[in-house]
Amino acid sequence: MTQATAPEIRPLIRAIHDYPKPGIVFRDITPLLSDDQGFQQTIDHLAERYAQQGITKIVGIEARGFIFATALAYAMGIGFVPLRKPGKLPSTTLQKRYQLEYGEDALEIHADALTQHDKVVIVDDLLATGGTVLAGVELVSDLAAQLHECAFIITLNELPGVERLRDAAIPYYTLCEF
Ligand code: PRP
Ligand code: ADE
Repeated sequence: MTQATAPEIRPLIRAIHDYPKPGIVFRDITPLLSDDQGFQQTIDHLAERYAQQGITKIVGIEARGFIFATALAYAMGIGFVPLRKPGKLPSTTLQKRYQLEYGEDALEIHADALTQHDKVVIVDDLLATGGTVLAGVELVSDLAAQLHECAFIITLNELPGVERLRDAAIPYYTLCEF
């Protein structure tokens, strides 16, 4: 089956200059989220892309990634696994620290969230330096699950994330490039 054309979501992404720090152009997804067609088409497109690929779990990154990842898991009728900021998951966790475009943070996953029988898509709203998603990829790998692809709504092509993923041979898909 041919993949349907990606929805044209670029006009629904708003640029906020100098947020959260001077020099940063923040790509704001809230107009996309509040647009009923844009949001639905985004999720439907991803659900079609990942149908019949043997995907067992959608792994989403806190917080903005959860919005798309949970909707996608629901649309596909499969489970959702959260990658959360430190101290939020109640059971035994694995943790990876990473650098952000504007700070430092860490991600955690429940140690029993995935097994070697899982084939996953990691979903986040945006790829910038790649630090966040690479931490997520390591956590998925530490649990011996298979990564099918990372999916983003937006990639910022002037930042190193795209190249870091390519260098590491990590497959990814994006709907909108800036
Ligand atoms: C943002 C964004 C991605 C990450 C991308 O999350 O949602 O997760 O940064 O940046 P990177 O490629 O440089 O790692 P943020 O940590 O700001 O958290 P939020 O989703 O809670 O707003
Ligand atoms: N996360 C990291 N960099 C970002 C940016 N420029 N806009 C929105 N979210 C981001």
